[in-house]
Amino acid sequence: MIDFHAHVLPRCDHGSDGIETSLKQLRLAKEAGVQTIIATPHFYPDHDRFPEFLARRERTYAALMEQHSGLPEVRIGCEVNLCPGLDHLEGIEQACVQGTKVILLEMPYEYWSSSLEETMLRFLEDSGLVPVLAHVDRYDPDRIEHLLRLGFLAQLNAECFSTLRGRRQKFDWIDRGSVVALGSDIHGVKPGYAEFTHALKVLKNRADVIFRRTEQLLEENRI
Ligand SMILES: [Fe+2]
Repeated sequence: MIDFHAHVLPRCDHGSDGIETSLKQLRLAKEAGVQTIIATPHFYPDHDRFPEFLARRERTYAALMEQHSGLPEVRIGCEVNLCPGLDHLEGIEQACVQGTKVILLEMPYEYWSSSLEETMLRFLEDSGLVPVLAHVDRYDPDRIEHLLRLGFLAQLNAECFSTLRGRRQKFDWIDRGSVVALGSDIHGVKPGYAEFTHALKVLKNRADVIFRRTEQLLEENRI
């Protein structure tokens, strides 16, 4: 099982306040049966410089690896906050999941400019990267439906299966092949992996389908 979206690097962002919290997060992941975690610290282009973010990510990952023993594999990734022109940011490919061309993009929650939509399309069509839209369950379903029909791939947060609301639509997105990843989006240690575990029960066979797709996605887009 792969947790594709998790904030577990110690003090890289607000997901973990230190190494002890990160280790607890990884232990909870292990108990839930997760074998691989993609560490996706936030990168906000508006108020963080990319080279500094990359250095911080490297440093915090190394610190975690020093004490990482018998825990799920951690691969470096990033949750990139989308802004107009992001596709032209020098070195943006370094935000991809380690060793791949797969990049997790977080869309804005409110205002979308036309230039932002153009940036998204360029990511899809011209960047040479494979964008995955983070936690599509959090947005207006009609807008997401439109993006999925354009060919974007999607990640769901496990928490969206805590309620019945919109469940049929999420199943439909999974069954149509658009959902390629499930994430805990864990910040801190509460509620840990309880929602992830619950989502597995709700998803039944669909969970295996999603995890197979995640593996395939990462394998087919290796660099
Ligand atoms: Fe996140």
